[in-house]
Amino acid sequence: MKWDTMILEEDCLKLLDQRKIPQKIEYFKASDYRKVIFGIKEMVVRGAPAIGAAAAHGVYLAVREFVDLEEKEFQINFKKALEELGDSRPTAVNLIWGIRRMKKVMEAKKGLGRKDLLQELFSESQKIAKEDVEINKKLGEHGQKIIPQNGRVLTHCNTGALATVGYGTALGVIRAAHAKGKDIKVFVDETRPRLQGARLNAFELLEEGIPATLIVDSAAAVLMKKGEIDVVIVGADRIAANGDTANKIGTFMLSQLAKHFHVPFYIAAPLSTIDFDLPQGEDIIIEERDPREITHWEGNPIAPEKIEVFNPAFDVTPSENIKGIITEKGIIKAPFKENISRMKPGGDYS
Ligand code: MRU
Repeated sequence: MKWDTMILEEDCLKLLDQRKIPQKIEYFKASDYRKVIFGIKEMVVRGAPAIGAAAAHGVYLAVREFVDLEEKEFQINFKKALEELGDSRPTAVNLIWGIRRMKKVMEAKKGLGRKDLLQELFSESQKIAKEDVEINKKLGEHGQKIIPQNGRVLTHCNTGALATVGYGTALGVIRAAHAKGKDIKVFVDETRPRLQGARLNAFELLEEGIPATLIVDSAAAVLMKKGEIDVVIVGADRIAANGDTANKIGTFMLSQLAKHFHVPFYIAAPLSTIDFDLPQGEDIIIEERDPREITHWEGNPIAPEKIEVFNPAFDVTPSENIKGIITEKGIIKAPFKENISRMKPGGDYS
């Protein structure tokens, strides 16, 4: 993609404003950690890996703001900032992962003066961003092998460069297959209610010149029934230790359809999306968002005022519906519990 999803600067974080794509290409300037939180909550930045990288830079910006405070004041303010950042969205584990990476640097370098520590934190957030792109490219390389030469791929939500720091997860796999010269075609779920598929994935696929067709989420069954989908690949927001996977609402339904029509269903995500300490999907906290995302369209009501609304942002796909989890270290297959634990830092593949 010709635009950066985020630009990490010494005094701010610039986020490509995803609320405005495809109509406008504009950057939102987060000049302190509170604005980073706003950006995450309001979906200026979205997608698990992108949220993780943004939160990491938010930690750096908090330390920068408090750098001259005396120790006690620094600790009080910093703790509050970390809690607020950590609470900005509940489901994507990469958010906590990004914050933890920064906290580890703080612990390892606690002997340094604050100004030097700040420099270390700036380097770490740059490193997280750079690594994210490298990881996605590796993941893409492993994943493209499952896409046939003339493969027709169905995907849900946004998983490209915009959902990461660059390249993408599920869309990275698609991108890698296209780069290999495979004659692929992508079906893009619009992804109600926030339309990440229509606004973001469709935008990126067009940019990349990858043949793509936009569908309403409910058209997936018709396509699968007609035998027009070879594989489903989606991203993830949190993967439990047994392989159960939280992703954008609608993913679970898609996995049930894929099972019914015998279409292989894959998850593509970096290892940082695996919550190794969480035994199963039932334990994943699912964010519920503003009812207005469903009852209103561009500020205008499209449903009766008093209607009750249920608006979960994510759902959990049980691991039994998943053929494989594509990561930067290869494709994890069943038995998921055993094979995921091998990927744990300190495990066979770390
Ligand atoms: O609510 P969002 O837009 O942050 O949700 C994004 C998704 O669910 C993505 O599919 C997921 O984070 C994978 S990102 C590579």
